[in-house]
Amino acid sequence: MTTRTGRHFLQIPGPANVPDRVLRAMAAPTIDHRGPEFAALTLRLLDAVKPVFGTAGPVVIYPASGTGGWEAALVNTLSPGDRVLCFETGHFATLWRNMATSLGLDVDFVPGDWRHGADPRIVREKLAADTARLVKAVCVVHNETSTGVTSRVADIRQAIDAAGHPALLFVDAVSSLGALDYRHDEWGVDVTVAGSQKGLMLPPGLGFNAVSARALEASRTARLPKSFWAWKPILQANARGYFPYTPATNLLYGLDEALRMLAEEGLPAVFARHARHGEATRAAVRAWGLEVVCADEREHSGTVTAVLMPDGHDADKVRDIILERFDMSLGTGLGRLAGRVFRIGHLGYFNDLMLAGTLAGVQMGLQLAREPISPSGVDAALDVLRSA
Ligand SMILES: Cc1ncc(COP(=O)(O)O)c(C=O)c1O
Repeated sequence: MTTRTGRHFLQIPGPANVPDRVLRAMAAPTIDHRGPEFAALTLRLLDAVKPVFGTAGPVVIYPASGTGGWEAALVNTLSPGDRVLCFETGHFATLWRNMATSLGLDVDFVPGDWRHGADPRIVREKLAADTARLVKAVCVVHNETSTGVTSRVADIRQAIDAAGHPALLFVDAVSSLGALDYRHDEWGVDVTVAGSQKGLMLPPGLGFNAVSARALEASRTARLPKSFWAWKPILQANARGYFPYTPATNLLYGLDEALRMLAEEGLPAVFARHARHGEATRAAVRAWGLEVVCADEREHSGTVTAVLMPDGHDADKVRDIILERFDMSLGTGLGRLAGRVFRIGHLGYFNDLMLAGTLAGVQMGLQLAREPISPSGVDAALDVLRSA
């Protein structure tokens, strides 16, 4: 492709499309982050962000990516050598485990096949067997962006409670927040980790921790070293509308606008839209004769669909053709799924015709790559979109 016209299709599962309204909001002049106008913005934002997490408690906003949010969750609540229970649901769960290990935590990493979420039965078994109460936290990735599999967080909380175990529950909602139904308080999550560049419709650059009362309590005695990530000075400064460092002012303008957009659409409608787009995408994949990675009907993601290519077929070749011919970026296979999977992002600022265009591009790319697919995928997706 030599000349590109029209909009690039950014159909990776985040960073996702940033709405023009958000881009315009971020284009405003940067203001004094120690002045009264900024304080009013912060106080409004810290309140407005809570419903998206489903919490009445504090939300800490860092100038960081989601990875920073992972680290903040661990270092604020845990001490060297503490045991944490993690689940190998995919690439991001593995990276979070690696971080926990490098911070000096003792990780029990339950192996997985990258096609299922964290199993609540194993949570219950592991915690029931932990009579010495050595496990201090359970870490779960709500929406595994590498596989398109969600973990059932409410069931995991029930499993922890059924075992009568005091472990904290940490959830990575980086690619689900603002897109999939999420309930920090109701599900008894202690720290929810999120990032700006997915369901929140912003560019990368903000990381979040929603913090429960129990997590705050744990932070009073936690001994892992921390400075930048420490909640206490941030919460103290936030109370007056400020930060203990220079915040990402213009990203916060964007957040203000994005939260307004989510409130205008209404969170139930946002969640329903994502679920429907996930369903339409899966209908296309199956009609093509391909397989989705997620192997449990209860665990399909509404934000990303990972498509498994048959053995010996190169998923990256398909992606390359689609980028070259149709100016559309799809997600690459990560970790052990490299080369075997491509991922279709359908999240954030997105609608039916954007999905139809996305799936048309995928179908044409598969055909150009001479994959033996049925040409009925797009029609199958349109049937779903038409009917609901
Ligand atoms: C589920 C999940 N967790 C964590 C991360 C890491 O976030 P970041 O790349 O913003 O540091 C990502 C990134 O895509 C993710 O999808």
